Amino acid sequence: MSTNETLKVAVIGGDGTGPEVAAEGIKVLKAIAELEGIKYELQDFDYGGDRYLETGVVLPDGAVEELSAFDAILLGAVGHPNVAPGILEQGLLLNLRFAFDQYINLRPVKLFPGVETPLAGKGPDDIDFVVVRENTEDMYCGIGGFFKKGTPDEVATQTAIYTRKGCERCIRWAFEYTHKRNMKKRLTLVAKTNVLTIGHDLWWRTFQEVAEEYPDIETDYNHVDACCMWMVKNPEYYDVIVTTNMFGDIITDLAGILQGGMGVAAGGNINPEPGGTSMFEPMGGSAPKYTGKSMINPIAAISATAMLLEQAGHQAASDRIMTAIQTVTGTKMKSQAAGKMGYSTQEVGDLVCKAL
Ligand code: IPM
Ligand code: MN
Repeated sequence: MSTNETLKVAVIGGDGTGPEVAAEGIKVLKAIAELEGIKYELQDFDYGGDRYLETGVVLPDGAVEELSAFDAILLGAVGHPNVAPGILEQGLLLNLRFAFDQYINLRPVKLFPGVETPLAGKGPDDIDFVVVRENTEDMYCGIGGFFKKGTPDEVATQTAIYTRKGCERCIRWAFEYTHKRNMKKRLTLVAKTNVLTIGHDLWWRTFQEVAEEYPDIETDYNHVDACCMWMVKNPEYYDVIVTTNMFGDIITDLAGILQGGMGVAAGGNINPEPGGTSMFEPMGGSAPKYTGKSMINPIAAISATAMLLEQAGHQAASDRIMTAIQTVTGTKMKSQAAGKMGYSTQEVGDLVCKAL
């Protein structure tokens, strides 16, 4: 979008502490919009576990069409203690990722100043990389089935699909991103070519071919198991990682804890095409036990808001928020853990606004 158009943001607070953290993201969005002269429109949507329990539907008819009128979605969290696992995750999160063809899942892994990492001897200079996770294929496609279910001879299949189009667009985007990020200019493909000799061979070949178009980017390859080891031992090696959906899911939880945990880790589900609707979220879950207690850390949701602004073309606004976050983690907050921040959820949001 052009930067003087009105930015239209749909807010899905979702379950548990989701609405509380999303509210702090929106508080910061309003503050920066004022400072940077950004025109915006916000609309709340009550999708989530409570609505599902009342109506029996996760996303009502027409929801996707309605949401498609927005430039971006800010999602708080999904996951409700009274709803069976999978229903909200599939019905809301995965459904929207697929419906809007958000084929990039962008997960920055940056240790902010003042934030504790479980890695001994590593600091903010060592933990600063980005994972580009493919977001529409792999085992997430839901293809498979049962045969003789519930009998001793039961068979279950769950298929991973990889398409040339799907991996190429993700890999190309990752090269572009590595170029634009302009740091180490190193892109590492993470896969499992020694076992997944079909699907990941497609990824490998595509990666090699696209690499030829980017001679300024150094390329490397890690098997996913080795990547988990290196990420703990030498996180400073990484600049940008590009990987498949399932492996990306797993390694970004590992990466998330290295950067200080789910209170700070944010991600974007991005459809980079013109007019695409992207969705940004803190990576932590709905943390039901903290609901309504003002104890949950909103930093991840505020980071997600900064990512939203960057994707919408408001780079300066996004940078200002990221700098303000680092001032707050570096000089104010005692911890990033819920209830141990030294401030309430709302006070942390206020501190970030003040630091803008
Ligand atoms: C994530 C989550 C989701 C995923 C779940 C909730 C479906 O773990 O965003 O990483 O597996 O992608
Ligand atoms: Mn995950």
